[in-house]
Amino acid sequence: MKILITGSNGMLGHDLEKVLKNKHELILTTSKTLDITDEDVALDVICNEKPDIVINAAAYTDVDGCEDNQDIAYAVNGQGVKNLAVACKKVDCPLVHVSSDYVFNGENTMPWIETDEKGPISVYGKSKLEGEQAILEIMDKFFIVRTAWLYGINGKNFPRTMLELAKSHSEITVVYDEVGTPTYTLDLANAISELIETDLYGIYHITNSGSCSWCEFARYIFEIAEVDVNVIPVTASEFARPAPRPSYSVLNNKNWTDNGFKPLRDYKDAIIEYVELIK
Ligand SMILES: NC(=O)c1ccc[n+]([C@@H]2O[C@H](COP(=O)([O-])OP(=O)(O)OC[C@H]3O[C@@H](n4cnc5c(N)ncnc54)[C@H](OP(=O)(O)O)[C@@H]3O)[C@@H](O)[C@H]2O)c1
Repeated sequence: MKILITGSNGMLGHDLEKVLKNKHELILTTSKTLDITDEDVALDVICNEKPDIVINAAAYTDVDGCEDNQDIAYAVNGQGVKNLAVACKKVDCPLVHVSSDYVFNGENTMPWIETDEKGPISVYGKSKLEGEQAILEIMDKFFIVRTAWLYGINGKNFPRTMLELAKSHSEITVVYDEVGTPTYTLDLANAISELIETDLYGIYHITNSGSCSWCEFARYIFEIAEVDVNVIPVTASEFARPAPRPSYSVLNNKNWTDNGFKPLRDYKDAIIEYVELIK
């Protein structure tokens, strides 16, 4: 297949390239070659390339930055996605769009399923929901993939930050009242690679298996990296950040498993592989 990837320089984009490059012809675009906020550019590039499928890994992902830069958040995560949807529809090409656990309000006690009511509590979450809604209004052939707590080799992320901090601190405070599922971008990229071989369009939750709090995750990272650090649990309200985060954002990968795909490996196995790579 001829696959056009947006945001190919990002954390997920990097692993999508790695996973897909030997099986497919890739058109790798960045914010310089395909700025998704530019309607004309999006239309031109997609109409000229005529890909078999587009994977949108581009987003404004600075959750706290979105609170201060709302215009950019909605331009990239909302209007940008709409521009891709319009262009894909024009050339009759399916769109894979990556969305987020932050479209939910976090007030569940059970893992969220795809059809649960959305209620984003941050600008980032609201802008990601706007992107989803544009696709639902415009397209029939789409995969919306909601994922969570990503980390990967090509980007800033929680495990990397923890291991960096541990080099200069013997004590680290970490939030314990936010629960989710850390997800390795390589595993997500492999899942997307399987999904695009099908026409089982729809909304999917795709994360690694299992769940934990940030605090439990930090402790596990230090355990497997054999780093001696004292992790001090704090509440999200004690650890003030500009954007509110959902307190419970575990995603039930229901549509994925209902359609016969194998659950992704446990987050505890995935992070072992990642820590080996970066330490
Ligand atoms: N990171 C997480 O924990 C997490 C959790 C849930 C869902 N997600 C979603 O997963 C997807 C991938 O996330 P990620 O962590 O891989 O993101 P990332 O590393 O921040 O990469 C995002 C990419 O988007 C590009 N981009 C930004 N504005 C653009 C524009 N106007 N036009 C084209 N490209 C643009 C950036 O390119 P430049 O650097 O050139 O600007 C960057 O390479 C996103 O949709 C994100 O919302 C992420």
